[in-house]
Amino acid sequence: MFIDRVLSGMRPTGRMHIGHYHGAIRNWVRLQEEYECLFFAADWHALTTHYEEPENVAASVWEMMIDWLAAGLDPTRSTLFIQSRVMEHAELTLLLGMMTPIGWLERVPTYKDQQQRLADRDLSTYGFLGYPVMQGADILIYRANMVPVGGDQVSHVELVREMARRFNHIYGREPGFEDKAKAAIKKLGSRKARRYGELRTAFQEKGDAAALEAAQELLNETQNLALGDRERLFGYLEGSRRMILPEPEALLTEIPMVPGLDGQKMSKSYGNAILMREDPAEVTRKIRTMQTDPARVRRTDPGNPELCPVWPLHKIYSSQQTQDWVVEGCTTAGIGCLECKQPLIDAIIREQQPLHERAQKYLDDPALVRNIVADGCERARELAEETMRDVRAAMGLAYD
Ligand code: TRP
Ligand code: SF4
Repeated sequence: MFIDRVLSGMRPTGRMHIGHYHGAIRNWVRLQEEYECLFFAADWHALTTHYEEPENVAASVWEMMIDWLAAGLDPTRSTLFIQSRVMEHAELTLLLGMMTPIGWLERVPTYKDQQQRLADRDLSTYGFLGYPVMQGADILIYRANMVPVGGDQVSHVELVREMARRFNHIYGREPGFEDKAKAAIKKLGSRKARRYGELRTAFQEKGDAAALEAAQELLNETQNLALGDRERLFGYLEGSRRMILPEPEALLTEIPMVPGLDGQKMSKSYGNAILMREDPAEVTRKIRTMQTDPARVRRTDPGNPELCPVWPLHKIYSSQQTQDWVVEGCTTAGIGCLECKQPLIDAIIREQQPLHERAQKYLDDPALVRNIVADGCERARELAEETMRDVRAAMGLAYD
């Protein structure tokens, strides 16, 4: 926890649908108002499962980037980049791999899960087993402390915390740590030094978590500290090691489950998705032909919204008043399904209007997107390089 920094990534799957939008991207757009943010296309991650189909990776990345920009990710606020264009990710993946026990990786819940779910692929590969290490590198290389993810990724972030802890434990050791930490405290100036000492004692003796946070905050606000001292002061709060790689936290996005047109999870590969920038006529067609409660065979048959895939969409898109109207009308057969769907269609089209507008200039001039991402990669590289200098030194690899 050096400064508040948000990082998240997404596998490139081409054009994004409203499940991506409501599940993640809309939240990213909000986060960039408040924090320094980095968002990247996890193209190497895509290859951990789809190494036999590399044809679409690059095209999918560009499509995804356009949708991110269309959603309102602002390149002046957020750094947008491509994982494989920042080679340092590979270096840190390799180095973290040295100290990551295989057992940790085999125990990741998605490991066996995915192998079973994607049974048509051979996932008994080194790359697939190791992808949480790569995810660790993605996060730790930016010393990001906040990682917005969906529920399926929380266990990965937990694992990344363990990697950071283990890394700091092994490589944060240094002769004379305590003395060096005390010297660093003096450099805070007498007022801050006293405060730091009090907060540290409160945490160490009474386990006061708020005191720990306040002390971290105090360090975050202190600008003129050398990196080594910063690492010592963060580390000294909790133990006797430098904190070279801070532990990240998952920011769990409260995702409204976005069902597809058939009530299954929305996914392009199931052919049940509404794109983020869907043609309005297509939105209308897709929603109008969407399945409803099978009990409503005739217009006069009452239905139950809980059994209808249209209902969760109303919960995302419609006001309370409209939702009440749906429940009342559906359960009493007071409204027909097409009638029920109309406000939803209107709301989706309304929501997508500004996305279409923002996307237009990028569609007209693809070089714009290329430049934004090139700048993002450059900026990411600078940040990554800073961490890597430290990591190399800590691991005995400093040659100058
Ligand atoms: N594993 C994530 C997914 O499949 C994508 C991802 C890769 C990621 N690296 C990350 C997410 C780092 C957050 C932080 O969706
Ligand atoms: Fe679904 Fe609306 Fe039809 Fe009820 S009225 S079954 S909620 S579409």
